[in-house]
Amino acid sequence: MKTDISNKTVVLCVSGGIAAYKSVELLRLLKKQGADVRVIMTQNATDFVGPLTFQALSGQTVCTSLFEGNDASIKHIEWAQEADAVVIAPATANVIGKYANGIADDALSTFMLAVTSPIILCPSMNTNMYQSKPFRRNLETLRTDGCFIVEPEAGELACGTSGPGRLPDPPDILDRILCCLTPKDLKGRQVLVSAGPTREHIDPVRFISNPSSGKMGYAIARAAEHRGGEVVLVSGPTMLPDPLNIEVIRITSAEEMAIAVFERMPTSDIIIKTAAVSDYRPKEQATQKIKKGEDEKVLGLQKNQDILKELGRRKKNQFLVGFAAETEALEKHAGQKLVAKNLDIIAGNIVTRPDSGFGTDTNQVTLFYRDGTKEPLSVMEKDAVAHVLLDRVVERVCADK
Ligand code: CTP
Repeated sequence: MKTDISNKTVVLCVSGGIAAYKSVELLRLLKKQGADVRVIMTQNATDFVGPLTFQALSGQTVCTSLFEGNDASIKHIEWAQEADAVVIAPATANVIGKYANGIADDALSTFMLAVTSPIILCPSMNTNMYQSKPFRRNLETLRTDGCFIVEPEAGELACGTSGPGRLPDPPDILDRILCCLTPKDLKGRQVLVSAGPTREHIDPVRFISNPSSGKMGYAIARAAEHRGGEVVLVSGPTMLPDPLNIEVIRITSAEEMAIAVFERMPTSDIIIKTAAVSDYRPKEQATQKIKKGEDEKVLGLQKNQDILKELGRRKKNQFLVGFAAETEALEKHAGQKLVAKNLDIIAGNIVTRPDSGFGTDTNQVTLFYRDGTKEPLSVMEKDAVAHVLLDRVVERVCADK
Protein backbone atom coordinates (compact mmCIF):
# COMPACT_ATOMS: atom_id res chain seq x y z
CA MET A 1 0.00 0.00 0.00
CA LYS A 2 1.12 3.54 -0.71
CA THR A 3 2.47 5.17 2.43
CA ASP A 4 -0.15 7.70 3.31
CA ILE A 5 0.86 10.45 5.73
CA SER A 6 -2.40 12.37 5.42
CA ASN A 7 -3.89 12.64 8.91
CA LYS A 8 -0.57 11.50 10.40
CA THR A 9 1.17 13.68 12.95
CA VAL A 10 4.72 14.60 12.00
CA VAL A 11 6.87 16.62 14.39
CA LEU A 12 9.48 18.64 12.50
CA CYS A 13 12.43 19.62 14.69
CA VAL A 14 14.62 22.43 13.39
CA SER A 15 18.05 23.11 14.87
CA GLY A 16 20.41 26.00 14.25
CA GLY A 17 22.14 25.39 10.94
CA ILE A 18 22.30 27.55 7.86
CA ALA A 19 20.09 24.95 6.10
CA ALA A 20 17.18 25.77 8.43
CA TYR A 21 15.59 27.68 5.55
CA LYS A 22 15.12 24.38 3.68
CA SER A 23 12.91 23.12 6.53
CA VAL A 24 10.33 25.73 5.58
CA GLU A 25 9.95 24.04 2.19
CA LEU A 26 9.96 20.61 3.83
CA LEU A 27 7.11 21.74 6.08
CA ARG A 28 5.18 22.90 3.02
CA LEU A 29 5.70 19.54 1.28
CA LEU A 30 4.59 17.60 4.37
CA LYS A 31 1.46 19.76 4.64
CA LYS A 32 0.78 19.17 0.93
CA GLN A 33 0.76 15.43 1.68
CA GLY A 34 -1.97 16.12 4.25
CA ALA A 35 0.14 15.62 7.38
CA ASP A 36 -0.54 17.44 10.64
CA VAL A 37 2.87 19.04 11.22
CA ARG A 38 4.09 20.54 14.49
CA VAL A 39 7.38 22.39 14.71
CA ILE A 40 9.92 22.49 17.53
CA MET A 41 12.89 24.85 17.15
CA THR A 42 16.06 25.31 19.15
CA GLN A 43 16.86 28.85 20.24
CA ASN A 44 19.73 28.92 17.71
CA ALA A 45 17.36 27.89 14.89
CA THR A 46 15.21 30.95 15.59
CA ASP A 47 18.23 33.11 14.66
CA PHE A 48 18.17 31.59 11.16
CA VAL A 49 14.40 31.50 10.48
CA GLY A 50 11.66 33.19 12.50
CA PRO A 51 9.17 30.86 14.26
CA LEU A 52 6.36 32.92 12.72
CA THR A 53 7.15 31.47 9.28
CA PHE A 54 6.76 27.90 10.58
CA GLN A 55 3.69 28.92 12.59
CA ALA A 56 1.95 30.42 9.56
CA LEU A 57 2.68 27.38 7.37
CA SER A 58 1.90 24.71 9.99
CA GLY A 59 -1.13 26.54 11.41
CA GLN A 60 0.11 25.73 14.91
CA THR A 61 2.12 27.44 17.61
CA VAL A 62 5.82 26.65 17.32
CA CYS A 63 7.51 25.23 20.42
CA THR A 64 10.81 26.96 21.17
CA SER A 65 11.10 26.65 24.93
CA LEU A 66 10.31 24.13 27.64
CA PHE A 67 8.26 26.54 29.68
CA GLU A 68 6.21 28.62 27.33
CA GLY A 69 2.53 29.47 26.96
CA ASN A 70 -0.10 29.99 29.58
CA ASP A 71 -1.83 26.65 29.22
CA ALA A 72 -0.83 23.82 31.49
CA SER A 73 0.11 21.54 28.57
CA ILE A 74 3.56 20.04 28.45
CA LYS A 75 4.20 20.14 24.70
CA HIS A 76 7.31 18.00 24.68
CA ILE A 77 5.44 15.10 26.29
CA GLU A 78 2.10 15.57 24.50
CA TRP A 79 3.65 15.93 21.04
CA ALA A 80 5.96 12.98 21.62
CA GLN A 81 2.94 10.81 22.44
CA GLU A 82 0.99 12.01 19.42
CA ALA A 83 3.81 11.80 16.82
CA ASP A 84 3.63 9.19 14.06
CA ALA A 85 7.08 10.31 12.89
CA VAL A 86 9.72 12.79 14.03
CA VAL A 87 12.16 14.49 11.67
CA ILE A 88 15.15 16.60 12.71
CA ALA A 89 16.16 18.73 9.70
CA PRO A 90 18.70 20.16 9.82
CA ALA A 91 20.24 18.20 12.68
CA THR A 92 23.36 19.99 13.96
CA ALA A 93 26.33 18.24 15.57
CA ASN A 94 25.17 19.67 18.89
CA VAL A 95 21.64 18.22 18.64
CA ILE A 96 22.97 14.82 17.47
CA GLY A 97 25.55 14.82 20.28
CA LYS A 98 22.98 15.65 22.95
CA TYR A 99 20.46 13.08 21.72
CA ALA A 100 23.07 10.30 21.40
CA ASN A 101 24.08 10.90 25.00
CA GLY A 102 20.63 11.38 26.49
CA ILE A 103 21.09 15.03 27.39
CA ALA A 104 17.83 16.95 27.82
CA ASP A 105 18.45 20.65 28.44
CA ASP A 106 16.02 22.42 26.11
CA ALA A 107 12.63 21.83 24.46
CA LEU A 108 13.95 19.88 21.45
CA SER A 109 16.35 17.59 23.30
CA THR A 110 13.85 16.93 26.08
CA PHE A 111 11.15 16.12 23.54
CA MET A 112 13.46 13.67 21.72
CA LEU A 113 13.90 11.50 24.82
CA ALA A 114 10.12 11.10 25.08
CA VAL A 115 9.62 10.06 21.42
CA THR A 116 8.60 6.46 20.63
CA SER A 117 7.72 6.87 16.90
CA PRO A 118 10.19 6.41 14.00
CA ILE A 119 12.89 9.11 14.02
CA ILE A 120 14.52 10.51 10.88
CA LEU A 121 17.74 12.48 11.32
CA CYS A 122 19.04 14.79 8.59
CA PRO A 123 22.50 15.91 9.69
CA SER A 124 23.94 19.01 8.04
CA MET A 125 27.14 20.82 8.95
CA ASN A 126 30.68 21.70 7.89
CA THR A 127 32.50 18.73 6.30
CA ASN A 128 35.24 18.53 8.95
CA MET A 129 32.64 18.55 11.71
CA TYR A 130 30.70 15.87 9.88
CA GLN A 131 33.79 13.69 9.51
CA SER A 132 35.06 14.29 13.06
CA LYS A 133 35.37 11.22 15.27
CA PRO A 134 33.07 12.43 18.06
CA PHE A 135 30.31 13.25 15.59
CA ARG A 136 30.68 9.92 13.72
CA ARG A 137 30.54 8.10 17.06
CA ASN A 138 27.35 9.88 18.06
CA LEU A 139 25.70 9.32 14.68
CA GLU A 140 26.54 5.60 14.73
CA THR A 141 25.10 5.33 18.25
CA LEU A 142 21.83 6.78 17.01
CA ARG A 143 21.83 4.53 13.93
CA THR A 144 22.29 1.52 16.21
CA ASP A 145 19.47 2.84 18.39
CA GLY A 146 17.21 2.53 15.32
CA CYS A 147 17.17 6.09 13.98
CA PHE A 148 16.87 6.43 10.21
CA ILE A 149 19.68 8.64 8.89
CA VAL A 150 19.31 10.75 5.75
CA GLU A 151 22.94 11.19 4.73
CA PRO A 152 23.95 14.72 3.71
CA GLU A 153 24.96 15.46 0.14
CA ALA A 154 28.45 16.42 -0.96
CA GLY A 155 28.92 19.82 -2.52
CA GLU A 156 29.76 23.40 -1.86
CA LEU A 157 28.81 24.41 1.68
CA ALA A 158 27.79 27.79 3.06
CA CYS A 159 31.05 27.96 5.06
CA GLY A 160 33.05 28.00 1.80
CA THR A 161 34.36 24.43 1.99
CA SER A 162 33.35 21.59 -0.28
CA GLY A 163 32.46 18.03 0.77
CA PRO A 164 29.70 16.07 2.50
CA GLY A 165 27.51 18.09 4.84
CA ARG A 166 24.82 19.72 2.72
CA LEU A 167 21.19 19.10 3.66
CA PRO A 168 19.46 17.28 0.77
CA ASP A 169 16.73 19.13 -1.09
CA PRO A 170 13.32 18.98 0.61
CA PRO A 171 11.69 16.64 -1.99
CA ASP A 172 14.49 14.15 -1.36
CA ILE A 173 14.03 14.42 2.42
CA LEU A 174 10.29 13.85 1.94
CA ASP A 175 11.10 10.80 -0.20
CA ARG A 176 13.32 9.41 2.60
CA ILE A 177 10.60 10.07 5.20
CA LEU A 178 8.11 8.11 3.10
CA CYS A 179 10.72 5.36 2.63
CA CYS A 180 11.31 5.15 6.38
CA LEU A 181 7.58 4.79 7.04
CA THR A 182 6.90 2.14 4.35
CA PRO A 183 6.73 -1.53 5.46
CA LYS A 184 9.59 -3.53 3.91
CA ASP A 185 7.69 -6.34 2.19
CA LEU A 186 10.21 -6.48 -0.70
CA LYS A 187 13.25 -6.80 1.57
CA GLY A 188 15.84 -9.14 0.06
CA ARG A 189 14.21 -9.07 -3.41
CA GLN A 190 16.07 -7.91 -6.52
CA VAL A 191 13.73 -5.81 -8.63
CA LEU A 192 14.49 -4.85 -12.22
CA VAL A 193 12.39 -2.08 -13.76
CA SER A 194 12.56 -0.65 -17.28
CA ALA A 195 11.11 2.78 -18.01
CA GLY A 196 10.81 5.56 -20.53
CA PRO A 197 10.99 5.54 -24.31
CA THR A 198 13.80 4.32 -26.53
CA ARG A 199 15.30 6.38 -29.32
CA GLU A 200 16.21 4.80 -32.63
CA HIS A 201 18.55 7.17 -34.39
CA ILE A 202 18.23 7.88 -38.11
CA ASP A 203 21.27 10.15 -38.03
CA PRO A 204 23.08 11.97 -35.17
CA VAL A 205 20.29 14.58 -34.82
CA ARG A 206 17.09 12.68 -35.67
CA PHE A 207 15.40 9.67 -34.16
CA ILE A 208 12.19 7.60 -33.95
CA SER A 209 10.66 7.59 -30.48
CA ASN A 210 7.38 8.05 -28.56
CA PRO A 211 6.10 10.48 -25.91
CA SER A 212 6.72 8.19 -22.89
CA SER A 213 7.84 10.35 -19.93
CA GLY A 214 9.06 7.45 -17.78
CA LYS A 215 6.86 8.56 -14.87
CA MET A 216 5.10 5.19 -14.42
CA GLY A 217 8.33 3.18 -14.40
CA TYR A 218 10.12 5.61 -12.10
CA ALA A 219 7.13 5.51 -9.71
CA ILE A 220 7.37 1.69 -9.65
CA ALA A 221 11.13 1.80 -9.05
CA ARG A 222 10.71 4.31 -6.20
CA ALA A 223 7.85 2.36 -4.63
CA ALA A 224 9.87 -0.89 -4.80
CA GLU A 225 12.84 0.82 -3.14
CA HIS A 226 10.59 2.25 -0.41
CA ARG A 227 9.37 -1.31 0.21
CA GLY A 228 12.92 -2.56 0.77
CA GLY A 229 13.72 -3.97 -2.70
CA GLU A 230 17.18 -3.77 -4.27
CA VAL A 231 16.20 -1.91 -7.40
CA VAL A 232 17.89 -1.53 -10.78
CA LEU A 233 16.20 0.89 -13.18
CA VAL A 234 17.02 0.63 -16.89
CA SER A 235 15.82 3.91 -18.32
CA GLY A 236 15.50 5.39 -21.77
CA PRO A 237 15.97 9.16 -22.18
CA THR A 238 13.73 11.04 -19.70
CA MET A 239 13.70 14.41 -17.94
CA LEU A 240 13.36 12.71 -14.55
CA PRO A 241 16.12 12.76 -11.92
CA ASP A 242 17.62 9.47 -10.72
CA PRO A 243 15.47 8.11 -7.87
CA LEU A 244 17.35 7.82 -4.55
CA ASN A 245 19.12 4.61 -3.55
CA ILE A 246 18.48 2.95 -6.93
CA GLU A 247 21.03 1.85 -9.52
CA VAL A 248 20.05 3.67 -12.69
CA ILE A 249 21.34 2.46 -16.07
CA ARG A 250 20.66 5.05 -18.75
CA ILE A 251 20.32 3.73 -22.29
CA THR A 252 19.16 5.22 -25.59
CA SER A 253 18.10 2.50 -28.04
CA ALA A 254 16.07 -0.72 -27.77
CA GLU A 255 19.24 -2.72 -28.48
CA GLU A 256 21.02 -1.05 -25.55
CA MET A 257 17.99 -1.67 -23.33
CA ALA A 258 18.00 -5.34 -24.31
CA ILE A 259 21.69 -5.72 -23.38
CA ALA A 260 21.21 -4.03 -19.97
CA VAL A 261 18.04 -5.99 -19.15
CA PHE A 262 19.39 -9.42 -20.18
CA GLU A 263 22.58 -8.79 -18.19
CA ARG A 264 20.54 -8.15 -15.03
CA MET A 265 17.89 -10.80 -15.60
CA PRO A 266 19.65 -13.78 -13.93
CA THR A 267 20.00 -11.95 -10.59
CA SER A 268 16.48 -10.49 -10.61
CA ASP A 269 13.52 -11.86 -8.66
CA ILE A 270 10.92 -9.49 -10.05
CA ILE A 271 11.05 -7.81 -13.48
CA ILE A 272 8.63 -5.04 -14.40
CA LYS A 273 8.85 -3.80 -17.98
CA THR A 274 7.20 -0.41 -18.16
CA ALA A 275 9.35 0.92 -20.99
CA ALA A 276 7.76 2.01 -24.26
CA VAL A 277 10.23 0.22 -26.52
CA SER A 278 10.38 1.20 -30.19
CA ASP A 279 9.22 -1.78 -32.21
CA TYR A 280 11.40 -0.76 -35.19
CA ARG A 281 14.72 0.95 -35.82
CA PRO A 282 16.01 2.46 -39.07
CA LYS A 283 17.73 -0.19 -41.18
CA GLU A 284 20.64 2.17 -41.61
CA GLN A 285 21.93 4.83 -39.29
CA ALA A 286 23.78 7.69 -40.99
CA THR A 287 26.95 8.81 -39.23
CA GLN A 288 26.49 12.41 -40.42
CA LYS A 289 23.38 14.58 -40.57
CA ILE A 290 21.30 13.60 -43.62
CA LYS A 291 20.93 16.55 -45.97
CA LYS A 292 17.57 17.33 -47.54
CA GLY A 293 17.30 16.40 -51.20
CA GLU A 294 14.49 14.78 -53.13
CA ASP A 295 10.80 15.56 -52.40
CA GLU A 296 10.02 12.05 -51.17
CA LYS A 297 12.14 9.80 -49.05
CA VAL A 298 11.52 6.24 -47.87
CA LEU A 299 12.88 5.11 -44.52
CA GLY A 300 13.65 1.40 -44.29
CA LEU A 301 12.86 -0.08 -40.88
CA GLN A 302 14.12 -3.19 -39.15
CA LYS A 303 12.14 -4.90 -36.35
CA ASN A 304 13.66 -4.65 -32.88
CA GLN A 305 13.83 -7.67 -30.62
CA ASP A 306 10.83 -7.99 -28.28
CA ILE A 307 12.75 -7.80 -24.99
CA LEU A 308 9.83 -8.85 -22.81
CA LYS A 309 8.98 -11.83 -25.00
CA GLU A 310 12.59 -13.00 -24.75
CA LEU A 311 12.47 -12.53 -20.96
CA GLY A 312 9.33 -14.68 -20.93
CA ARG A 313 11.13 -17.36 -22.93
CA ARG A 314 14.21 -17.36 -20.66
CA LYS A 315 12.16 -17.04 -17.46
CA LYS A 316 13.04 -19.40 -14.59
CA ASN A 317 11.96 -18.24 -11.13
CA GLN A 318 11.47 -14.60 -12.06
CA PHE A 319 8.10 -12.92 -11.58
CA LEU A 320 7.42 -11.09 -14.83
CA VAL A 321 5.19 -8.04 -15.28
CA GLY A 322 4.53 -6.24 -18.56
CA PHE A 323 2.60 -3.17 -19.58
CA ALA A 324 0.28 -2.95 -22.56
CA ALA A 325 -0.13 0.46 -24.15
CA GLU A 326 -3.29 0.29 -26.23
CA THR A 327 -5.63 2.64 -28.06
CA GLU A 328 -8.53 0.15 -28.35
CA ALA A 329 -9.67 -3.38 -27.42
CA LEU A 330 -7.63 -3.38 -24.20
CA GLU A 331 -8.77 -6.73 -22.86
CA LYS A 332 -8.15 -8.58 -26.12
CA HIS A 333 -4.71 -7.09 -26.81
CA ALA A 334 -3.46 -7.18 -23.21
CA GLY A 335 -4.69 -10.77 -22.85
CA GLN A 336 -2.83 -11.82 -26.01
CA LYS A 337 0.41 -10.18 -24.82
CA LEU A 338 0.10 -11.83 -21.38
CA VAL A 339 0.04 -15.26 -23.01
CA ALA A 340 2.47 -14.60 -25.90
CA LYS A 341 5.13 -13.14 -23.56
CA ASN A 342 4.63 -15.70 -20.74
CA LEU A 343 3.86 -13.01 -18.12
CA ASP A 344 2.52 -13.27 -14.58
CA ILE A 345 0.71 -9.92 -14.74
CA ILE A 346 0.12 -7.40 -17.49
CA ALA A 347 -1.02 -3.87 -16.67
CA GLY A 348 -3.06 -2.52 -19.55
CA ASN A 349 -3.93 1.08 -20.20
CA ILE A 350 -5.62 3.08 -22.91
CA VAL A 351 -2.94 5.64 -23.68
CA THR A 352 -5.21 8.06 -25.54
CA ARG A 353 -7.28 8.86 -22.40
CA PRO A 354 -6.47 12.33 -21.02
CA ASP A 355 -5.94 10.91 -17.50
CA SER A 356 -3.79 7.96 -18.58
CA GLY A 357 -0.71 6.99 -20.49
CA PHE A 358 2.16 9.08 -21.77
CA GLY A 359 3.25 12.04 -19.66
CA THR A 360 0.28 12.20 -17.29
CA ASP A 361 0.65 12.11 -13.49
CA THR A 362 -2.31 9.76 -13.21
CA ASN A 363 -3.12 6.44 -14.81
CA GLN A 364 -6.08 4.12 -15.19
CA VAL A 365 -4.87 0.58 -15.55
CA THR A 366 -6.48 -2.82 -15.57
CA LEU A 367 -4.42 -5.67 -14.20
CA PHE A 368 -4.73 -8.95 -16.08
CA TYR A 369 -3.53 -12.04 -14.25
CA ARG A 370 -2.11 -15.33 -15.50
CA ASP A 371 -5.15 -17.25 -14.23
CA GLY A 372 -7.40 -15.28 -16.61
CA THR A 373 -8.86 -12.93 -14.00
CA LYS A 374 -8.66 -9.15 -14.23
CA GLU A 375 -8.82 -6.19 -11.86
CA PRO A 376 -9.72 -2.74 -13.18
CA LEU A 377 -8.24 0.00 -10.98
CA SER A 378 -9.69 3.50 -10.67
CA VAL A 379 -7.82 6.56 -11.95
CA MET A 380 -4.96 7.12 -9.50
CA GLU A 381 -1.70 8.99 -9.17
CA LYS A 382 1.07 6.90 -10.77
CA ASP A 383 2.67 6.51 -7.30
CA ALA A 384 -0.53 4.88 -6.05
CA VAL A 385 -0.83 2.64 -9.15
CA ALA A 386 2.77 1.53 -8.53
CA HIS A 387 1.98 0.48 -4.97
CA VAL A 388 -1.23 -1.41 -5.89
CA LEU A 389 0.70 -3.27 -8.60
CA LEU A 390 3.46 -4.12 -6.09
CA ASP A 391 0.82 -5.25 -3.55
CA ARG A 392 -0.37 -7.79 -6.14
CA VAL A 393 3.19 -8.83 -6.99
CA VAL A 394 4.06 -9.34 -3.30
CA GLU A 395 0.89 -11.40 -2.69
CA ARG A 396 1.82 -13.70 -5.54
CA VAL A 397 5.60 -13.86 -5.00
CA CYS A 398 5.12 -14.65 -1.31
CA ALA A 399 2.41 -17.24 -2.09
CA ASP A 400 4.86 -19.02 -4.43
CA LYS A 401 7.50 -19.43 -1.70
N1 CTP B 1 8.24 -4.60 -25.13
C1 CTP B 1 9.56 -5.03 -25.16
N2 CTP B 1 10.27 -4.98 -26.32
C2 CTP B 1 9.72 -4.54 -27.45
C3 CTP B 1 8.39 -4.09 -27.45
C4 CTP B 1 7.67 -4.13 -26.27
O1 CTP B 1 10.07 -5.44 -24.11
N3 CTP B 1 10.43 -4.51 -28.56
C5 CTP B 1 7.48 -4.69 -23.87
C6 CTP B 1 7.08 -3.35 -23.28
O2 CTP B 1 8.06 -2.88 -22.36
C7 CTP B 1 5.77 -3.69 -22.56
C8 CTP B 1 5.21 -4.83 -23.39
O3 CTP B 1 6.29 -5.36 -24.14
O4 CTP B 1 5.98 -4.17 -21.26
C9 CTP B 1 4.10 -4.44 -24.33
O5 CTP B 1 4.51 -3.35 -25.12
P1 CTP B 1 3.51 -2.68 -26.15
O6 CTP B 1 4.20 -1.55 -26.82
O7 CTP B 1 2.19 -2.43 -25.48
O8 CTP B 1 3.19 -3.84 -27.18
P2 CTP B 1 4.02 -4.58 -28.28
O9 CTP B 1 4.38 -5.94 -27.75
O10 CTP B 1 5.14 -3.73 -28.79
O11 CTP B 1 2.91 -4.80 -29.39
P3 CTP B 1 2.16 -3.73 -30.29
O12 CTP B 1 3.11 -2.56 -30.47
O13 CTP B 1 1.90 -4.45 -31.54
O14 CTP B 1 0.90 -3.35 -29.54
